Amino acid sequence: MNLASVMQSERKLLVPTYDRHKILLQAGSGMYLRDSNGKKYLDFLSGIGVNALGYHHPAVQKTLKQQAARLIHVSNLFYHEYQSELARRLVRISGLERTFFCNSGTEAWEGALKFARAYARSQNHNGHKPKWRVLALGNSFHGRTFGSLATTGQAKYREPFAPLMPGVSFVAFNDTADLKKKFDVSVCAVCVEVIQGEGGIRPVSAEFLQLARKLTKASGALLLVDEIQSGLGRTGHYFAYQHHRIQPDIVTVAKPLAAGLPLGAILTTNRVANALHPGMHGSTFGGGPLACAVAIEFLRVLDSLLVHVRKTSEYFVRQLNELKSKHNCIRDVRGLGLMLGIELDTAERAKAAVSQMMEQGIIINRTNGNTLRFLPPYIIEKKHIDQLICTLDAVLSSGTPEPAKQLSTISRSTRRKNQI
Ligand SMILES: Cc1ncc(COP(=O)(O)O)c(C=O)c1O
Repeated sequence: MNLASVMQSERKLLVPTYDRHKILLQAGSGMYLRDSNGKKYLDFLSGIGVNALGYHHPAVQKTLKQQAARLIHVSNLFYHEYQSELARRLVRISGLERTFFCNSGTEAWEGALKFARAYARSQNHNGHKPKWRVLALGNSFHGRTFGSLATTGQAKYREPFAPLMPGVSFVAFNDTADLKKKFDVSVCAVCVEVIQGEGGIRPVSAEFLQLARKLTKASGALLLVDEIQSGLGRTGHYFAYQHHRIQPDIVTVAKPLAAGLPLGAILTTNRVANALHPGMHGSTFGGGPLACAVAIEFLRVLDSLLVHVRKTSEYFVRQLNELKSKHNCIRDVRGLGLMLGIELDTAERAKAAVSQMMEQGIIINRTNGNTLRFLPPYIIEKKHIDQLICTLDAVLSSGTPEPAKQLSTISRSTRRKNQI
């Protein structure tokens, strides 16, 4: 099948929820993807933070093949060998004590909200209404299901599906006075992404995070940290909250956990876990043997990559700042580790830059309108960063192209092949 026929049948058969780039990806190796025209792309997006070990990683391939030949799925009515081993590794790196496995980021976040409500009920010994309110941050993103949407601080995601879960109030991003004002004894959970990903690579301040920890601890509420995008090595530590030396009560992870297979997890304390009992929460697919075996392998490889992520990040940030000093259109360089973004002056320029970068064979992404987001695989090397910077430099130097001019930068043969 070629791109044109795939596009044509998707147009008829799929629910139109995605505005895809007109590229048909067919294979990957290391830092690179290849499309149906044989064009190679240097990947600075990793499938939005999933392919942290790049493509066709030998350790992942080996475990996948071995485990697929033995056992792919068993229901959670039975034991298999890998959940406890994976949980042991996750609690060790997070400083938490218990794990629940699911399939995706939003499912992990839904579970975290349920755990917070269940814990509040379990602590309600005086006959008053249990704590039930949830504080979430403005500009946040926690996923597409109802609880996750309800706590997502961007109206464009919430409004088409209202009414959502009641009891959620939004605190202005990094506004400690607003947090103090909205927090009271009825709050059961404060929700934080340590770096807002979909919100434009915006790190929460240490001051805000520490205040959230202090208030929740003092009142018996829980601090819920969404590390679905920022966790599992992405920022150069296992978790982004570890940059701030705080310990949350609940942490959610997903994206890179099983190196491309769907797997999410909720990590929490014994105290919270004790509020749950069999039947209160569950998942048919969550934590199957194939995904868990691959995730154990991912965590094994990750141990040896953290220092590399930190070192490479230092170089990357330096290069981005140098680029900023050359281009007035770059307003800000933000992020930690290999979760980085540059804010441009306009959304149009950012949109044009993404498509021109792809024309030049480099995949980046735009988030929150005018921010270029970089989430490369952790195996990235300096030479890849040099290639990105050099290409971005040229793209930003060329100015914002008119739509007609943009199309003309696509080679004639590519247009003919892709029928665009
Ligand atoms: C911080 C954060 N939370 C939750 C999600 C939702 O994850 P999923 O798309 O796997 O449901 C995302 C996805 O981008 C995310 O970045």
